[in-house]
Amino acid sequence: MLKVENLNVYYDNIHALKGIDISVNKGEIVCLIGANGAGKTTTLQSISGLIPKKEGSVIFEDKDITKTKANIITKLGIAQVPEGRRVFTGLSVIDNLKLGAFTIKDSQENIQRDIEKIYERFPILKERKNQLAGTLSGGEQQMLAMGRAIMSRPRLILLDEPSMGLSPLFVEKIFEVIKTLKEEGVTILLVEQNANLALSISDRAYVLETGKIVSSGSAKELSEDSSVKEAYLGA
Ligand SMILES: Nc1ncnc2c1ncn2[C@@H]1O[C@H](COP(=O)(O)OP(=O)(O)OP(=O)(O)O)[C@@H](O)[C@H]1O
Ligand SMILES: [Mg+2]
Repeated sequence: MLKVENLNVYYDNIHALKGIDISVNKGEIVCLIGANGAGKTTTLQSISGLIPKKEGSVIFEDKDITKTKANIITKLGIAQVPEGRRVFTGLSVIDNLKLGAFTIKDSQENIQRDIEKIYERFPILKERKNQLAGTLSGGEQQMLAMGRAIMSRPRLILLDEPSMGLSPLFVEKIFEVIKTLKEEGVTILLVEQNANLALSISDRAYVLETGKIVSSGSAKELSEDSSVKEAYLGA
C-alpha cells in the first residue's frame, strides 16, 4: 500500500533522514520505534507531504506522491495525527471534526453521519462537542485529533506518539481505538516511544537510529531481539 524508498530529508544542513526504506501492506499496523531525534516525526511528515524530500520516493497505492502537496495527499486517503495532537484550541470540538472533513466532497448530512460515528467511538467528544478544544484534557485532545483524522475517511493513518503524556487509562483507550481501526480495514503506521505497547499491537516494526533503519521484522521477532530489548524495551 505504501512504499518509501531511499528517503533523504534535510533541515538546512542537518541530514535528518539518510536513505529510509519502509513498506506498509494493506491492513497492517506497522510501527516505527526509535529514540528522541531519530527521525520518526520527520519520516511521517515527509510521507504526508509536510516536509520536502531531497531524494527518494513515496508510492501510495501505486501512485507516486513524492512531490504531491499535503492537502492532495489527504484527499488521496492518508491522514496524519500529529505529535502533540495539534487540535485547533480556539475552536469547538465539533468544528475541529468538521475541519477534518475539509477534503471530503459530500452532503452535510453524510458529514454529520461521520461525526455521529466519531461520537460513538469517543463518547466523551459528544459530551464536550461545544467545548473549546483547548479546554480538553490531553487524552481528550488525542481522541479529538484522531477523530479529526478519521473524518477525512483515510485508508492509511500516520499516528505520531499517540500515548505521549497520557495516563494509563487513556493510553489503553487510544490503543483500543487503534485496534478497532485495523479491524475496520484501516492501515496504520504508528510512531511510539512506548515500544512495548506498540509492538504488542503491531504486525511489523522498524527501528530507526539517527536517520537510518537499523532493524526491521515482525513485531514478534523484534520484541524478542536482544539489542531491541536492551535499547527500547527496558529489558
Ligand atoms: N524543523 C527542524 N529544523 C531543524 N532540525 C530539525 C527540525 N525538526 C527536526 N529536526 C532534527 O531532525 C532530527 C529528527 O527529528 P524528528 O523530530 O524527526 O525526531 P523524532 O524521532 O520524531 O524524535 P522525538 O521522539 O523526540 O519526537 C533531529 O535531529 C531534530 O533535531
Ligand atoms: Mg517525534
